[in-house]
Amino acid sequence: MGTKYREVDADSYIPIEADKLVVGVRLPFNVFVEDKGTIKPLFNKETIFTSLARNILKEKGISRVYVAGEDKLSLYSYLQNNPSRKDSIDNVSKTFKEYSFYKEQHYPVDRVFLIPGMKINFSLFLLNKLSFKILMEATPKRPEIISEEVLTTEGDIVIKKSDIPLYQGYLNSLLKSENISGEDKSKIKTIIVKENAKITVKDLFDNPFNSENIKASKELVAKIIDCVLKDRDVIYDLVSLKTYDYYTYIHSVNVAIMSVGLGAAIGLKREDIEKLGIGALLHDIGKSAIPLEILNKQGSLDNTEFQIFKTHVIEGEKILRTHNNIPEESFDAVLQHHEKLSGKGYPSGLSKEAIKLFGRITAIADCYDALTTPRIKKYPLTPFFALSVIAKETINYDRELLKEFVKMLGKVK
Ligand SMILES: [Fe+2]
Ligand SMILES: [Fe+2]
Repeated sequence: MGTKYREVDADSYIPIEADKLVVGVRLPFNVFVEDKGTIKPLFNKETIFTSLARNILKEKGISRVYVAGEDKLSLYSYLQNNPSRKDSIDNVSKTFKEYSFYKEQHYPVDRVFLIPGMKINFSLFLLNKLSFKILMEATPKRPEIISEEVLTTEGDIVIKKSDIPLYQGYLNSLLKSENISGEDKSKIKTIIVKENAKITVKDLFDNPFNSENIKASKELVAKIIDCVLKDRDVIYDLVSLKTYDYYTYIHSVNVAIMSVGLGAAIGLKREDIEKLGIGALLHDIGKSAIPLEILNKQGSLDNTEFQIFKTHVIEGEKILRTHNNIPEESFDAVLQHHEKLSGKGYPSGLSKEAIKLFGRITAIADCYDALTTPRIKKYPLTPFFALSVIAKETINYDRELLKEFVKMLGKVK
């Protein structure tokens, strides 16, 4: 993400530009400064940042200060509430806030299932770039027939979260429909597993401390494994259905499916695949502790935002430690999915053998999914191109696993 500055114990401190400190406002965190490679306290929490303090910083040529990682949430709300004059929070931000709100309140559905001529009893909306609008209005009392036109739109077709049960009912009705061939039905069955998986994982992200949600996730991993072991070819179908925007819970399901597939391909035992699958499904659970404005941000993150983003790994571990039924091996996937063999990953900068098998597997699946998933203003790679990009990444990822991974998704055109 273009970090040009020298990192000072990057995991514990978050850099911020000194001129983002607002004169006349009480500091809700301790502020530190770097001095000859070490971090030293500068201002204490609760002190008011005065213009005198600002001038001293200027005189000393201090343009960057640091805040302890544990204060990231108060730092974030401080920056949000006190935009400095230099910050050009333009009119996009209001629209973006609205967009982010709609995105969280709605759930993307797969266009493949919206078959023209079929009746639905829930409304469809369109989320595209920063716009949100209604596409088709329908309720259980007034069902409507899906028109061709609906499907020619660009963007993600979403439904209200509260309509998810109606959507699930609709999916099941497709299996009974006479208009759909047997072959298509078996494909629908597989994809229903994925649609249900998305819903389970969305619930989990909304409420990561709930033990019922963890239980449901474990059952989900067992279903994914059944699916993948029965027919390896489904992997490509399952992960190639892409949305226009990025959703952490869809990403989590994709990474779980590909990790399970890779685990099976290298001959792991079922019980080990289960541990791997749980870790892979939960690998980004820590993102539930990261502000939505950072997760949903368009374009790249600035240094401060990226430092906050990186803490999702440790946050994930913290959340999962509150549950007592997560296998220890699954933590490797959570803690090491951003580590790289070159030692340039995070949070620990582990290299080579220090990165365990489950960490190596999820790192590959994570990277592939990131390359093929669109974000606003950033073009995603096609599966083929993504595979050729990642296959060359032997400095960062396990060579043997990469070979298996390319073989596994080799059906891509
Ligand atoms: Fe991650
Ligand atoms: Fe991830």
